[in-house]
Amino acid sequence: MGNIREKVTMAQSVKGMRDLFGAEMRWFGLIEDTARRSFSRHGYGEIRTPILEEIEVFKRSVGDSSDIVKKEMYDFTDKGGRHVVMRPENTAGVVRAMIQHKLLTTPDPQKVFYIGPMFRYERMQTGRFRQFFQIGVESFGAGTPESEVESLVMLFDFLKALGLTQLELSINSVGTPACRPAFHDAIRTFFQGRQEHFCADCHRRIAENPLRVLDCKIPTCQEALEGHPLLVDFLDEDSRAHHARLKELLKDVGIPFVENPRLVRGLDYYTRTAFEVLSSDLGAQSALLGGGRYDGLVKQLGGPDTPAFGWAIGLDRLAMLLSQIRGEAPGEQAITLIPLGEAATRRAFGLAREAWSEGLALNLETRGGALKKALTTANRQGARWALLLGDGELEQGVITARDLASGSQETWPLADVIARIKALA
Ligand code: HAM
Repeated sequence: MGNIREKVTMAQSVKGMRDLFGAEMRWFGLIEDTARRSFSRHGYGEIRTPILEEIEVFKRSVGDSSDIVKKEMYDFTDKGGRHVVMRPENTAGVVRAMIQHKLLTTPDPQKVFYIGPMFRYERMQTGRFRQFFQIGVESFGAGTPESEVESLVMLFDFLKALGLTQLELSINSVGTPACRPAFHDAIRTFFQGRQEHFCADCHRRIAENPLRVLDCKIPTCQEALEGHPLLVDFLDEDSRAHHARLKELLKDVGIPFVENPRLVRGLDYYTRTAFEVLSSDLGAQSALLGGGRYDGLVKQLGGPDTPAFGWAIGLDRLAMLLSQIRGEAPGEQAITLIPLGEAATRRAFGLAREAWSEGLALNLETRGGALKKALTTANRQGARWALLLGDGELEQGVITARDLASGSQETWPLADVIARIKALA
């Protein structure tokens, strides 16, 4: 009887949903802190909306024919019979909140940012998860190219503060709903001449939303698009002037960009400016961020006619890129304080609290046990220094500081410990 061992299966996270910890979590923390500081400087206030929204919020904004609404939503009926969705993106939710709380009727322009998880039932690849995080910004009430450049300057200053300076901005104008029918006709005519070269999805897109054919990721479709009609040739006068002014302003502020006439984005709400930033370090098809103007969305969701512009950056991808480019994660606990014995422990608490109240980073070893084990742990945690405090040290009023990389030791007077740690920081 006593020999029967029950097999316990280990619980696993849901496919596509990750636990974040250690170095990656420290990158997340650094990015989020930098975002909060940068965006509030530009007058953007933080907003936090629920993860669950009514399904209509997305159907009416992201678009019925989009991949997100068609096949990627985590939707279900809750116990009260409501059809809800775990948000696949947050522009629609923010717009819903701005309307619901009448935030758009107070002085313009309204600028907000958000940080949080999004959910898409996508096929897994590098940098593509089913729960992922976005940092996004939305500004309402300004329909000008100037407002777009203000937001883009903020974006590139934020990326620069994180140490990313080599990223390229790709822009296009997708015009307004008024200029689309003529373009749709032109692209359908073009398509008819070469339909056998396009994939099944493109055949569906040409019927439902022809604009999306332009951004099919399949190489043979991209080849078949050679010589396709250009959206810019179908823009109305105002959209054309808007786009020209945007380019002029971007040159003025020194943000390099390339024009990509096939950039249309996977969400239906965009009008005029659409843009993306891709990084070759993230692998094919992986945009680091994307956004654009969406002048019709507020009205579409029942609010006052309000122009708007925004973007969202994939936090998981940004953290991945930073660890590739910058290497070591920030904020390693560089110092571990190891007390040995009862009296030393009491003294160590005093020292540690003094360090913490001075804003210094210090890891206090509290598990007791042998010195060797404590040193191994400190090493494994990436500590640079171990501060050893035993009875001998206490008697002499010193601490032993061991450099964990070289193994060499120094003796510091106890009275100087805080100043020494400060000098190391
Ligand atoms: P989006 O292009 O769908 O735009 O997503 C923005 C960013 O979120 C992407 O560039 C990517 O970095 C990240 N992302 C998207 N899907 C995944 C995934 N499955 N795994 C990891 N990262 C992902 C929007 O969501 C719009 N709401 C942006 C916007 C704001 N437009 C106007 N305002």
